[in-house]
Amino acid sequence: MPSTEKEAYGLKILTNNHPDIRRLRRQTGTPNIHGNKFWKSTLVLMDYLCEFPPPKAGKDKPLRVLEIGCGWGLAGIYCAKEFGAELTSLDADDSVFPYLEHHAALNGVKVTTWKCRYEKIRKVDLENFDVMIGADICFWDEMVAPLYNLTRRAAQAGVRVVMTDPGRPTFSAMASQCEAKLAALHEAWSVPPPYNTSGFVMDYDPMGQ
Ligand SMILES: C[S@@+](CC[C@H](N)C(=O)[O-])C[C@H]1O[C@@H](n2cnc3c(N)ncnc32)[C@H](O)[C@@H]1O
Repeated sequence: MPSTEKEAYGLKILTNNHPDIRRLRRQTGTPNIHGNKFWKSTLVLMDYLCEFPPPKAGKDKPLRVLEIGCGWGLAGIYCAKEFGAELTSLDADDSVFPYLEHHAALNGVKVTTWKCRYEKIRKVDLENFDVMIGADICFWDEMVAPLYNLTRRAAQAGVRVVMTDPGRPTFSAMASQCEAKLAALHEAWSVPPPYNTSGFVMDYDPMGQ
Protein backbone atom coordinates (compact mmCIF):
# COMPACT_ATOMS: atom_id res chain seq x y z
CA MET A 1 0.00 0.00 0.00
CA PRO A 2 1.44 3.46 -0.88
CA SER A 3 2.49 5.63 2.09
CA THR A 4 -0.21 8.15 1.15
CA GLU A 5 -2.95 5.61 1.83
CA LYS A 6 -3.94 3.90 5.12
CA GLU A 7 -6.39 1.24 6.10
CA ALA A 8 -8.34 1.35 9.35
CA TYR A 9 -11.46 -0.58 10.41
CA GLY A 10 -11.87 -1.89 6.88
CA LEU A 11 -11.78 1.60 5.33
CA LYS A 12 -9.37 3.15 2.87
CA ILE A 13 -8.20 6.54 4.10
CA LEU A 14 -6.03 8.90 2.05
CA THR A 15 -3.45 11.19 3.60
CA ASN A 16 -3.07 14.86 2.79
CA ASN A 17 -0.19 14.02 0.43
CA HIS A 18 -2.16 11.58 -1.70
CA PRO A 19 -2.35 12.79 -5.34
CA ASP A 20 -6.20 12.68 -5.26
CA ILE A 21 -6.29 14.88 -2.16
CA ARG A 22 -3.75 17.29 -3.64
CA ARG A 23 -5.88 17.52 -6.77
CA LEU A 24 -9.03 18.19 -4.72
CA ARG A 25 -7.17 20.90 -2.80
CA ARG A 26 -6.17 22.57 -6.06
CA GLN A 27 -9.66 22.29 -7.51
CA THR A 28 -11.83 23.09 -4.50
CA GLY A 29 -9.60 24.75 -1.88
CA THR A 30 -8.74 23.93 1.73
CA PRO A 31 -11.51 23.53 4.33
CA ASN A 32 -11.34 26.31 6.88
CA ILE A 33 -12.81 25.18 10.24
CA HIS A 34 -10.22 22.42 10.77
CA GLY A 35 -11.90 20.01 8.34
CA ASN A 36 -8.60 19.75 6.45
CA LYS A 37 -7.65 16.16 7.39
CA PHE A 38 -8.78 12.94 9.03
CA TRP A 39 -8.70 13.48 12.82
CA LYS A 40 -7.77 10.65 15.19
CA SER A 41 -10.92 10.97 17.31
CA THR A 42 -12.60 9.24 14.39
CA LEU A 43 -10.54 6.12 15.21
CA VAL A 44 -11.82 6.35 18.80
CA LEU A 45 -15.38 6.64 17.49
CA MET A 46 -15.03 3.69 15.08
CA ASP A 47 -13.44 1.51 17.75
CA TYR A 48 -16.15 2.39 20.29
CA LEU A 49 -18.96 1.70 17.78
CA CYS A 50 -17.30 -1.59 16.88
CA GLU A 51 -17.56 -2.53 20.59
CA PHE A 52 -21.01 -0.98 21.22
CA PRO A 53 -22.71 -1.05 17.81
CA PRO A 54 -26.11 0.43 17.07
CA PRO A 55 -28.89 -2.15 16.64
CA LYS A 56 -28.60 -4.04 13.35
CA ALA A 57 -30.42 -2.47 10.45
CA GLY A 58 -33.35 -4.36 8.91
CA LYS A 59 -33.81 -4.62 5.16
CA ASP A 60 -37.00 -2.57 5.21
CA LYS A 61 -35.78 -0.05 7.74
CA PRO A 62 -32.09 0.79 7.46
CA LEU A 63 -30.31 2.47 10.33
CA ARG A 64 -30.27 6.23 9.76
CA VAL A 65 -27.03 7.90 10.82
CA LEU A 66 -26.27 11.62 10.97
CA GLU A 67 -22.61 12.62 11.31
CA ILE A 68 -22.20 16.20 12.49
CA GLY A 69 -19.02 18.22 11.87
CA CYS A 70 -18.13 15.42 9.47
CA GLY A 71 -15.01 16.87 7.80
CA TRP A 72 -13.76 14.00 5.63
CA GLY A 73 -16.56 11.94 7.17
CA LEU A 74 -14.86 8.58 7.80
CA ALA A 75 -16.88 7.76 10.94
CA GLY A 76 -20.14 8.00 9.04
CA ILE A 77 -18.66 6.07 6.12
CA TYR A 78 -17.72 3.36 8.64
CA CYS A 79 -21.37 3.18 9.80
CA ALA A 80 -22.59 2.94 6.19
CA LYS A 81 -20.13 0.17 5.40
CA GLU A 82 -20.24 -1.77 8.67
CA PHE A 83 -23.90 -1.38 9.68
CA GLY A 84 -25.52 -0.78 6.27
CA ALA A 85 -26.55 2.67 7.49
CA GLU A 86 -28.25 5.31 5.40
CA LEU A 87 -25.80 8.17 5.91
CA THR A 88 -26.22 11.93 6.10
CA SER A 89 -23.06 13.94 6.72
CA LEU A 90 -23.39 17.51 7.98
CA ASP A 91 -20.82 20.27 8.15
CA ALA A 92 -20.91 24.05 8.46
CA ASP A 93 -18.15 24.25 5.85
CA ASP A 94 -19.19 22.83 2.49
CA SER A 95 -15.59 22.78 1.24
CA VAL A 96 -15.17 19.49 3.18
CA PHE A 97 -17.73 17.69 1.00
CA PRO A 98 -15.49 16.87 -2.01
CA TYR A 99 -13.09 15.09 0.40
CA LEU A 100 -16.01 13.27 2.07
CA GLU A 101 -17.54 12.25 -1.27
CA HIS A 102 -14.18 11.04 -2.56
CA HIS A 103 -13.74 8.79 0.51
CA ALA A 104 -17.35 7.57 0.27
CA ALA A 105 -16.77 6.53 -3.38
CA LEU A 106 -13.41 4.96 -2.52
CA ASN A 107 -15.12 2.86 0.15
CA GLY A 108 -18.19 2.04 -1.93
CA VAL A 109 -20.86 3.81 0.11
CA LYS A 110 -23.49 6.46 -0.58
CA VAL A 111 -23.76 9.69 1.36
CA THR A 112 -26.14 12.64 1.46
CA THR A 113 -24.47 15.92 2.38
CA TRP A 114 -26.08 18.67 4.44
CA LYS A 115 -24.50 22.10 4.83
CA CYS A 116 -25.68 23.35 8.21
CA ARG A 117 -24.31 24.52 11.54
CA TYR A 118 -25.02 21.86 14.13
CA GLU A 119 -26.59 24.40 16.49
CA LYS A 120 -29.34 24.90 13.87
CA ILE A 121 -30.45 21.24 13.83
CA ARG A 122 -34.04 21.09 15.09
CA LYS A 123 -35.83 18.34 17.00
CA VAL A 124 -38.01 17.75 13.93
CA ASP A 125 -34.85 17.17 11.84
CA LEU A 126 -33.52 14.71 14.42
CA GLU A 127 -36.68 12.63 14.16
CA ASN A 128 -35.34 11.44 10.77
CA PHE A 129 -32.35 9.71 12.40
CA ASP A 130 -31.59 6.84 14.78
CA VAL A 131 -28.01 7.74 15.68
CA MET A 132 -26.07 11.02 15.63
CA ILE A 133 -22.26 10.84 15.77
CA GLY A 134 -19.45 13.40 15.90
CA ALA A 135 -15.66 13.25 16.29
CA ASP A 136 -13.56 16.21 17.47
CA ILE A 137 -16.26 18.83 17.10
CA CYS A 138 -16.19 20.52 20.52
CA PHE A 139 -12.97 22.52 20.42
CA TRP A 140 -14.03 26.10 21.20
CA ASP A 141 -15.76 27.42 24.35
CA GLU A 142 -18.75 28.58 22.31
CA MET A 143 -19.36 24.98 21.12
CA VAL A 144 -20.05 23.61 24.62
CA ALA A 145 -23.60 24.91 25.15
CA PRO A 146 -24.84 24.28 21.56
CA LEU A 147 -23.62 20.67 21.62
CA TYR A 148 -25.16 20.01 25.04
CA ASN A 149 -28.46 21.55 23.85
CA LEU A 150 -28.32 19.52 20.62
CA THR A 151 -27.79 16.33 22.63
CA ARG A 152 -30.80 17.25 24.78
CA ARG A 153 -32.93 17.74 21.64
CA ALA A 154 -31.67 14.39 20.30
CA ALA A 155 -32.60 12.74 23.61
CA GLN A 156 -36.13 14.18 23.28
CA ALA A 157 -36.30 12.75 19.74
CA GLY A 158 -35.12 9.31 20.94
CA VAL A 159 -31.83 9.51 19.01
CA ARG A 160 -28.63 7.91 20.29
CA VAL A 161 -25.70 10.35 20.39
CA VAL A 162 -22.06 9.25 20.36
CA MET A 163 -19.26 11.83 20.31
CA THR A 164 -15.51 11.43 20.76
CA ASP A 165 -12.65 13.78 21.43
CA PRO A 166 -8.92 13.71 22.16
CA GLY A 167 -9.57 15.17 25.64
CA ARG A 168 -10.10 18.89 25.30
CA PRO A 169 -11.50 20.74 28.35
CA THR A 170 -14.37 21.99 26.15
CA PHE A 171 -15.46 18.43 25.33
CA SER A 172 -15.10 17.44 28.97
CA ALA A 173 -17.37 20.35 30.00
CA MET A 174 -20.01 19.39 27.43
CA ALA A 175 -19.87 15.64 28.13
CA SER A 176 -19.94 16.17 31.92
CA GLN A 177 -23.13 18.19 31.49
CA CYS A 178 -24.65 15.36 29.40
CA GLU A 179 -23.60 12.88 32.10
CA ALA A 180 -25.05 14.96 34.96
CA LYS A 181 -28.30 16.05 33.31
CA LEU A 182 -29.08 13.29 30.78
CA ALA A 183 -27.39 10.29 32.46
CA ALA A 184 -25.12 9.90 29.42
CA LEU A 185 -21.99 7.83 29.68
CA HIS A 186 -18.69 9.76 29.64
CA GLU A 187 -15.46 7.78 29.75
CA ALA A 188 -11.88 7.45 28.55
CA TRP A 189 -11.35 5.11 25.61
CA SER A 190 -8.14 3.45 24.34
CA VAL A 191 -7.86 2.16 20.81
CA PRO A 192 -5.76 -1.02 20.65
CA PRO A 193 -2.73 -1.54 18.40
CA PRO A 194 -1.94 -1.00 15.60
CA TYR A 195 -3.67 2.39 16.05
CA ASN A 196 -2.47 3.18 19.59
CA THR A 197 -4.54 6.24 20.13
CA SER A 198 -6.93 7.22 22.89
CA GLY A 199 -9.53 9.78 23.76
CA PHE A 200 -12.89 10.26 25.43
CA VAL A 201 -16.41 9.18 24.57
CA MET A 202 -19.83 10.58 25.40
CA ASP A 203 -22.66 8.13 24.65
CA TYR A 204 -26.29 9.01 25.23
CA ASP A 205 -28.32 5.89 24.42
CA PRO A 206 -32.11 6.17 24.81
CA MET A 207 -32.30 2.34 25.00
CA GLY A 208 -30.00 2.38 28.03
CA GLN A 209 -31.94 5.08 29.91
C1 LIG B 1 -11.59 19.03 13.89
S1 LIG B 1 -12.61 18.81 12.49
C2 LIG B 1 -13.15 17.12 12.70
C3 LIG B 1 -13.60 16.52 11.41
C4 LIG B 1 -14.03 15.04 11.48
N1 LIG B 1 -15.13 14.87 12.39
C5 LIG B 1 -12.87 14.13 11.85
O1 LIG B 1 -12.85 13.63 12.99
O2 LIG B 1 -11.98 13.92 11.02
C6 LIG B 1 -14.07 19.74 12.94
C7 LIG B 1 -15.16 19.77 11.88
O3 LIG B 1 -16.33 20.38 12.43
C8 LIG B 1 -16.86 21.32 11.50
N2 LIG B 1 -17.59 22.35 12.28
C9 LIG B 1 -17.06 23.29 13.10
N3 LIG B 1 -18.05 24.02 13.66
C10 LIG B 1 -19.22 23.52 13.20
C11 LIG B 1 -20.60 23.84 13.43
N4 LIG B 1 -20.96 24.84 14.25
N5 LIG B 1 -21.54 23.13 12.79
C12 LIG B 1 -21.19 22.12 11.93
N6 LIG B 1 -19.90 21.78 11.67
C13 LIG B 1 -18.93 22.46 12.31
C14 LIG B 1 -15.63 21.83 10.76
O4 LIG B 1 -15.94 22.41 9.51
C15 LIG B 1 -14.79 20.57 10.65
O5 LIG B 1 -15.09 19.83 9.49
